[in-house]
Amino acid sequence: MELFDRPDSGEKALVVHLAINHSFSEDDLAEFIQLVISANVEPVVTVKGSRRAPDSRFFIGKGKLDEVKHLLHETCADVVLFNHTLSPSQQRNLEKELEVRVLDRTNLILDIFAQRAQSFEGKLQVELAQLQHLSTRLIKGWTHLERQKGGIGLRGPGETQLETDRRLIGQRIRQIKSRLLKVAKQREQGRRSRQRADVPTISLVGYTNAGKSTLFNALTNSSIYAADQLFATLDPTLRQVKHVDYGEFVLADTVGFIQDLPHELVAAFRSTLQETIEADLLLHVVDASSPNRQEQMREVNTVLKAIGADKIPQMMVYNKIDQLPAVNPHIDQDEAYKITAVWLSAIKKEGLNLLLESLSTTCHQENNRLTLTLKPNQAKLRAALFKNAQIISEDVQENGDWLLDVNIPNRFQYLLNEIDE
Ligand code: GTP
Repeated sequence: MELFDRPDSGEKALVVHLAINHSFSEDDLAEFIQLVISANVEPVVTVKGSRRAPDSRFFIGKGKLDEVKHLLHETCADVVLFNHTLSPSQQRNLEKELEVRVLDRTNLILDIFAQRAQSFEGKLQVELAQLQHLSTRLIKGWTHLERQKGGIGLRGPGETQLETDRRLIGQRIRQIKSRLLKVAKQREQGRRSRQRADVPTISLVGYTNAGKSTLFNALTNSSIYAADQLFATLDPTLRQVKHVDYGEFVLADTVGFIQDLPHELVAAFRSTLQETIEADLLLHVVDASSPNRQEQMREVNTVLKAIGADKIPQMMVYNKIDQLPAVNPHIDQDEAYKITAVWLSAIKKEGLNLLLESLSTTCHQENNRLTLTLKPNQAKLRAALFKNAQIISEDVQENGDWLLDVNIPNRFQYLLNEIDE
């Protein structure tokens, strides 16, 4: 069964964005428009408005519904996209009333994921999320619209599975889950052998469109897909970098983070961020030329916290300095001369050596010899030190404390954070 049919021609969309209870942001709308373009759909007209609360039947009120109908007629748009979450019944009522397909934010993001998924695992993840989303909507009356093949939001399981019943979907979901488990096992084996070889893993994280894939390509000389579209990468892509001067690393590219990723998708795609959780160092790539970079950095840090990656050391990469007046590639350091940020241009390949040098310094050199006292209840930390640091000597004190003389590589310094907590 071909689950990822692509349409040949572009589609036209009418976009609906309301301020619910006074909250309206042009930035949110601009990001949604970017998402629409990412899905290869042309946004032809936007309907804006405000309501205290969504209408229970149509989400929008009667007046707006008439305006949407009128504009649909005028622009010949093929699809209506809501920058909101619609309930299954609202979506159904709207489709009945407007006689075109209506998609909400989750549908749109799922569609983009379906377009972007590259690896076997990524495709399985997307199919699973699509089926799970579909199964919540599989209720009587759904099939009132004629579904032709290949339209936006109809890709994936939509067009074929709708005729089947929940039982089949349930079976397929179970099958995908067991395949995913198998893929996860294989991934785990790869990770173990890397650990044995003691090659540090560095994960590129960052807001969507920050330039992660471009930087990843520049560093690895590979050519995975990079485009001026959101979610150019869906799968964490791993590459080994071996450099005579700078040593060896494994680099992982990850999916870009966005604001308000629907909750159900965060769960579905968390495993694609597995490499991030297990990385020795996070390279947090920022589009330094974006006026929204502060919020974007905050958003990324929020997601990192949610997936339990906030304790991993971070190095900032301020990318796209070619767009900034008079900024040359350079390094920022803190008072202890630790490298905190590298300013560069991935596309112009300016400052890449500074980055490689910084990675090498941070990951491979500068071990730190320390004497530590651990309490008996810190056995887990002690085990982690035995695994990742060089233990020069250990003594057990009369009160049961451990006294350790250790040499800790920089990349495992974060383990010490736990001692202060
Ligand atoms: P997602 O996969 O959506 O998370 O995006 P990404 O962070 O991987 O970004 P990607 O590498 O796809 O780059 C996004 C856009 O920014 C592309 O159009 C790149 O050409 C552009 N870009 C990347 N690096 C630079 C840079 O150093 N300078 C400029 N001017 N543009 C850049």
